Amino acid sequence: MAQTIQELLAIKPSGNSQKTQYVDTVEAYDKWAEVYDTDGNFLQRLDTIEMRTLLPQFIDRVSKRFQPSPQETETTTTHASLVDLGCGTGRNTIELLSALSTAKKANHFSVIGLDASRGMLDVARTATHEYGAKSAAQTPVELGILDLLQPELSKTQLPSSLAGPGAVAVFAAAAGIMRAGAYLLVTNMHAEMGMRSQAGFTDERGVKVRPTSYCHAISDVLDAAAEAGFEVEEVVGAGADGVLVRGVDEQLGDVLGARAKKWVGVRVWFGVCFVKRN
Ligand SMILES: C[S@@+](CC[C@H](N)C(=O)[O-])C[C@H]1O[C@@H](n2cnc3c(N)ncnc32)[C@H](O)[C@@H]1O
Repeated sequence: MAQTIQELLAIKPSGNSQKTQYVDTVEAYDKWAEVYDTDGNFLQRLDTIEMRTLLPQFIDRVSKRFQPSPQETETTTTHASLVDLGCGTGRNTIELLSALSTAKKANHFSVIGLDASRGMLDVARTATHEYGAKSAAQTPVELGILDLLQPELSKTQLPSSLAGPGAVAVFAAAAGIMRAGAYLLVTNMHAEMGMRSQAGFTDERGVKVRPTSYCHAISDVLDAAAEAGFEVEEVVGAGADGVLVRGVDEQLGDVLGARAKKWVGVRVWFGVCFVKRN
């Protein structure tokens, strides 16, 4: 079993005296949901900035491979689905809807957001409804429960368009609901940050609540993806391994806000696009 970040950090005490409570991942996200989008998390801000260039590339790629013919666009009621796995509060689900609209592909796809936390999905439901009403979005959106670590358990609750073979790990679970040639865009905290800190929020009692989290080196992510049948697809700005890595420098620290300052000089984020082999 992989070491949790809690276990890694126990070896290197932080010196921070704030009371910390480690809770089950999903339970923590249920509690975090209400303030997740507003508690000043700089990694979300960085992710949003990077998604502005990654999502158009992703949509372009998916469209070229799975584009319906003009007749199909007119007549079909079933669209290829774009799935936001671990969609949380719908932050990126809405970015995706907006990017589809900008690319004039809003009626070519449906969007499905899946997450293990009902609390996060409740926030996502409100946010996507509000976005739909405000923008008159044409893309059908569905939200549902999926625990990527227990896909067999939650499979029965999956939207029927995603019913597929079961799998055991995150990439295998993703592969289980994807067709051959489909693309998977992954963004995450970089292990260099994950070795020093982990996600969490301060609750109404002033207690820092931290979900059980794991820290995965990029090489481990690439190995796990390859094992589940994925190949890396080049994205603009990626390194030789095809992975886009972002560290915080002084300039980006100014853009990302006060909480990013202590991370200057540290790699904090990575993004990588995969394609599912045949
Ligand atoms: C760091 S948040 C990111 C949320 C969203 N993707 C975003 O970028 O704002 C991680 C999300 O993954 C979800 N999650 C954690 N473990 C999961 C699992 N085993 N299966 C599905 N979702 C999970 C959490 O509930 C949470 O919403």
